[in-house]
Amino acid sequence: MPKKRKRDYLIRGFSKLLKEDKLMIVSELMDNQVETVELLKSFWHSDNSKQKIFDEFSENTISNFYIPYGIAPNVVVNGHTYHVPVVIEESSVVAAASSSSKFWSERGGFNAEIIGVEKVGQVHFIWSGDKVKLQKVFDELKYYLRGATKDITKNMESRGGGILDFELIDFTQEIDNYYQLKATFDTVDSMGANFINSCLEEFASALQEFFRTHKAFSKDEKECEVVMSILSNYTPECLVRVWVECDFKDLEGIFKDMTGEQFARKFETAVKISEIDIYRATTHNKGVFNGVDAVAIATGNDFRAIEAAGHAYAARDGKYKSLTSVTITGTTFHYELKIPIALGTVGGLTSLHPLAKHSLEMLGNPSAEELMKIVASVGMANNFAAVRSLVTKGIQIGHMKMHLYNILNHIEATKSEKEKAVEYFVTNKVSHGAVQNFIDNLRKK
Ligand code: MEV
Repeated sequence: MPKKRKRDYLIRGFSKLLKEDKLMIVSELMDNQVETVELLKSFWHSDNSKQKIFDEFSENTISNFYIPYGIAPNVVVNGHTYHVPVVIEESSVVAAASSSSKFWSERGGFNAEIIGVEKVGQVHFIWSGDKVKLQKVFDELKYYLRGATKDITKNMESRGGGILDFELIDFTQEIDNYYQLKATFDTVDSMGANFINSCLEEFASALQEFFRTHKAFSKDEKECEVVMSILSNYTPECLVRVWVECDFKDLEGIFKDMTGEQFARKFETAVKISEIDIYRATTHNKGVFNGVDAVAIATGNDFRAIEAAGHAYAARDGKYKSLTSVTITGTTFHYELKIPIALGTVGGLTSLHPLAKHSLEMLGNPSAEELMKIVASVGMANNFAAVRSLVTKGIQIGHMKMHLYNILNHIEATKSEKEKAVEYFVTNKVSHGAVQNFIDNLRKK
């Protein structure tokens, strides 16, 4: 048995306690109990009714964890200008999105198109009957499943969505008697997770009933074991394409001693590297998700689902690679991002979280398709800014400038020390040591 460490024991019945009691228990685990309570309470909302909203989003809440909420202005998508709310803790990301969006706003902006909006759900089941019989009655089964979910789909259908299609996938070569009922859905402006999962659970019961009651199946074929029914976060057909395009001459001046063409070609090489090397590809795509996640969070969308789909899509050919690609034709530089983004602009957190609601208002209450285009554009803006820096001056100059504030806060610099430091580090290299020295010297004086 390993030696017990501090806090190394189980807490029983935590979820049943009142919030204040949970807070007490947590603070008792700390050396500085009074300060812990004060700290955690200091992040409670002063308006109880607002705090209650946050408390009810998840479970066992004892405080709120703040992350900055900012704006990436001037994101021009298909000729419309958006000032996009972004939630992110990493310095430089909003600055990168803003500078890149401004850059492209002067070169025609981002172009975006929706390739598809299809979402996916699966019922995984085990059945040991005659597969030819099952294939023969599959059309009947589809009809039966649609009938079984009529009550659930009525509302969605009135909004223009619903169940799109069904597919029976035979995986019996991989796992004995394992089949999959794959269903596709259009959930219009909602993310649709609850809708899809409700349909799937209903399909599962209806599927069992179908086997039990259909005359095509013998006594031995009446049993079907449902393993699980759940939506898939892999949504390769819920896809958006964003691209920017300009002549080499419009890339002049990006970096001293580099022509527009030299920049374009070096940029192309950098992107090609992320098409062949997984280590670079992961970081390259992380740059895309800096923007994508920030808008997803600000609009109350599930960024984990979006990330999961994006990374799986990046590996769709069996090799993980960049989500973006460059084409150079003559003197035209074309940069493109294709990314699955399953999101919603109605329902769920989008209307419950007061700031998510505000973000959507800021964006003119877009449809899900419009938001997909905006999110992808900000992803592309961030990725372009990152690669632009990497192939020119490197990212650390900009990064450390932004990071300067974090360092100053970390060493508890005063307002006037901060002002002096910001001025000094315009022309001097930022590092933790250099900032500490600078402040120490100021304090000595
Ligand atoms: C940092 O958050 C993101 C970058 O590493 C992305 C990239 O390397 O392309 C700068």
